[in-house]
Amino acid sequence: MQIHSSIADLRAALKNRGRIVFVPTMGNLHAGHISLMTQARGHGNTVVASLFVNRLQFGPNEDFDSYPRTFDADCEKLRAASVDVLFAPTERDLYPEPQQYHVAPPEIQNQLEGEFRPGHFRGVATVVLKLFNIVQPQVALFGKKDYQQLMVLRNMTRQLALPIDIVGGETVRAADGLALSSRNGYLSATERAEAPRLYRTLNSIYEAVRSGEQDFAKLERAAAATLDAQGWKTDYVAVRQQSDLQAPQPENHSLVVLAASRLGTTRLLDNIEI
Ligand code: PAJ
Repeated sequence: MQIHSSIADLRAALKNRGRIVFVPTMGNLHAGHISLMTQARGHGNTVVASLFVNRLQFGPNEDFDSYPRTFDADCEKLRAASVDVLFAPTERDLYPEPQQYHVAPPEIQNQLEGEFRPGHFRGVATVVLKLFNIVQPQVALFGKKDYQQLMVLRNMTRQLALPIDIVGGETVRAADGLALSSRNGYLSATERAEAPRLYRTLNSIYEAVRSGEQDFAKLERAAAATLDAQGWKTDYVAVRQQSDLQAPQPENHSLVVLAASRLGTTRLLDNIEI
């Protein structure tokens, strides 16, 4: 696996590489990331991963400084997954001058995750567009774990006519249902044992909607109450349309239930397509 930190070196290394498939990450890799790398292989000739903890997408009180950085272990995992090229820029490589031009996502950037993480999707969209311009992939993969991120990036790519296919990868879970996340490492043993309740709660909404329940607000309130009764602090539980994450139109059956809730100081995120 080649590793490059400079944009110029990476561009030189990616000349005449055929169809490039790109998987951006912030590192501290787990089986969820690796499943995207494995799927990437099936979409082209050269698999490029990136590893960059993007300051622009963290709020002032978020975990940018403490975000786990495990570069050597990450490289091992990427090599084992047969990734061809890793782009691992420093902040100075990627932001040699203050980034003053940003991608402004539409109103959805202020809802769901965006309500609790102001500026997050602007930071994500900006870095991903910049990475797209550097890597110039034909295909890029993102996990459904971060459903709103996938939707924002898919719609950005379409509306800006970027010549890139965006592919969504299924969420990889631990045996007890907890979605894998770099932030799971923040959980204490007691919290880790409690954490799968988030997925179970989303599953009960899935079952209720599949059985014909249409009062989504009631399901959302009950789910948040169930979690909060067990010591969680729920930011939102919401049934939305898959395509744009707006409130469901009456005849729309492509729905997704999304939630974010805090266990101690750890904020967990999950969703299920219905
Ligand atoms: P990061 O959180 O490192 O995630 C990198 C990719 O892995 C994202 O597409 C994310 O959705 C996916 N992923 C994370 N956990 C997963 C799981 N359990 N199953 C399947 N896929 C999973 O998301 C980011 O980084 C950043 O916002 C980034 C897009 C790199 C921009 O900075």
